[in-house]
Amino acid sequence: MDIRVEKGIAEKYPSELLLLFSFESPEPLEGPVKGVDLEWKGFLSTLIRQGDFKGELFQCRLVHTQGALPSKRVLLAGLGKKEEFDLEKWRGAASKAGQFIRDSGIKQFAFQIKRLDRFSEEEMAEYFVTGLILGLYQFNEFKTLEREKIKTIEKVILLGETEQDIQSIGEGSRKGSIISGSVCTARNLVNGPSNQVTPTLLAEKARQIARDHSMEIQVLEVSEAEAMGMGAFAAVARGSHEPGKFIVLEYNKGKGMDTIALVGKGITFDSGGISIKPSEHMERMKDDMSGAAAVLTTLQAAFQLQIPLHLVGIIPATENLPSGKAYKPGDVLKTLSGQTVEVISTDAEGRLILADALTFSLDYQPKAIIDLATLTGACVVALGDDVIGLFGNNESLQKKIEEASQKTGEKVWRLPIWDEYFEYIKSDVADFKNVGTRAAGAIIGGIFLSKFVEKTPWVHLDIAGPAFIEKERPYIPKGGTGVGVRLLVQLLRDWR
Ligand code: BES
Ligand code: ZN
Ligand code: ZN
Repeated sequence: MDIRVEKGIAEKYPSELLLLFSFESPEPLEGPVKGVDLEWKGFLSTLIRQGDFKGELFQCRLVHTQGALPSKRVLLAGLGKKEEFDLEKWRGAASKAGQFIRDSGIKQFAFQIKRLDRFSEEEMAEYFVTGLILGLYQFNEFKTLEREKIKTIEKVILLGETEQDIQSIGEGSRKGSIISGSVCTARNLVNGPSNQVTPTLLAEKARQIARDHSMEIQVLEVSEAEAMGMGAFAAVARGSHEPGKFIVLEYNKGKGMDTIALVGKGITFDSGGISIKPSEHMERMKDDMSGAAAVLTTLQAAFQLQIPLHLVGIIPATENLPSGKAYKPGDVLKTLSGQTVEVISTDAEGRLILADALTFSLDYQPKAIIDLATLTGACVVALGDDVIGLFGNNESLQKKIEEASQKTGEKVWRLPIWDEYFEYIKSDVADFKNVGTRAAGAIIGGIFLSKFVEKTPWVHLDIAGPAFIEKERPYIPKGGTGVGVRLLVQLLRDWR
C-alpha cells in the first residue's frame, strides 16, 4: 500500500473516495467534514439531521457525490462520543474505515488530516496510519485458490492544508508506517507454520535484518551454546531434528549509548516434549516464538527510527519435541548461571531456554533487560487473552512499561513475584524445579526467571494471551498479533 502526502483540502481534492470522520451527533461538524458540508450545500448536515448517519463509533456510510464535489464518493465514518475519544479509538476508527473501503472493492482514497481534540497533526497521522496498516493486515501466503478475490487498497493520499501540516503529517505517517510494518512482519512470522518458521529461518531473518541495517549478528549452534555452558537451552533443543539456534542481534554496538537487552522466547513449535500436550489446539503452539518475532522486528524498527540506544536482541530458538534423545522429567540441568534445575515438566521449556538467555544478556551489562514470552497458560487464565502479564524487579522500569502501554493500547497488568513464591519451586535434588504446583502458575514462571537476572533491572512480559487471538479486535485481525512490538518501540522512543 502506497501512502503519500499531498497538499490539498478535502472539498477541493478529486479522488475515488474521500474519507471523512465525525463525532456522534449532536456534536457540531468540525474540521474537513465541515468544509465539505459547506461546499455541498449542507448535504451532510441534512443526512445527519435525518438520522441517516449518527456518527457512532466505527459506523461507516458510503455516499455518492453525483458531481457535487471533485471526489466521486464520500465515506462518512463515526468516531463515537467526543468526550470518550482517544488514540485507541482513533486507531480503531482508521482500521474500520480502511476495512470498509477495502471490502467495498475500492482501491484508493484520500483523507485530509487535521488536528482533532487534543491531538496534533503528527499524532493524528501516526495513529491513523498505524490503525490502517494493522487493520488491513491479511495473511494469504499459503492460499492458492481464488487469489483474484483477495481485495487490497493500493494507494492512500493524506492531504495537508499548509506546508507545516504536510511536514507534520509526513513525519507522523513515516513513523506509523515503520512501526506497523514491523508489527506486520512479526505477525507473518507468528502466523507462518512451524514447518517453515524454523529456528534456522529465524536466524536467516535476523541475518537479513543485520545485513540490511549493518547490525552485528552472532548465531550460535546448539553445540556451541552447550560448550559455553547453556545446559538448559541445549537440553530443550536436543529432542528435535530441526537444529536450534541461539541468535544475538546488536544495534548501535560500541557507540557508548545505554544498553538495553531484549530477550524473546523462540520456541518455533511447542509439543510439550515428553510431557506432551493434549492434541486439541496443539496447532496453536506454532505461536510460541511470538516473543522472538517481537524482539527481531523491534530492532528493525529501532534502526529505521534511528533510536539512540545500544540494543541487544537475544533469541534462544528451538522446537520442543519428544524423541529418543529428548530431555525428560527428573533430569537435572546445569544452566549458564551455574545454578541447577530439576525438570518436572518438559512443557515448562520456555523458562529453561530463557534462563540461559537472561544469564547470557548480563555479559552486556545492560541498563535494563526485558523479556517477552508466551510463557504460561496460567497467565491467560488469570488475565484473559487481551492482557500482558507484567513482572519485574524494578519499580521505575515497570512504570516505564506501563506508560508505554497507555500510549499503544497493549494492556499490561502487574503480578507480584514475592520471595514467598520461591517455596513452590524448591527441589530435593537441585537448586530448584522448573514448575511448582498448579497454584500461581504465571507467577512461578516469573519467579523462576528472576533467579537469572541478578540485580539488573528486569521486566518479564508474559504474552501467552494476546500473542494470538481467535476473535478479531478493531485493528487486530485474528491470528498472530505482533503484540509487544509497539510497546517496546514506544518504551525505547521515550527512554531517558
Ligand atoms: N507455550 C506454553 C504456554 C502457552 C500456553 C502459551 C497456552 C500460549 C497458550 C508453555 O511452554 C507451557 O507449556 N507452559 C505450561 C507450564 C506448566 C507446565 C507449568 C503451561 O502453561 O501449561
Ligand atoms: Zn511448553
Ligand atoms: Zn512454550
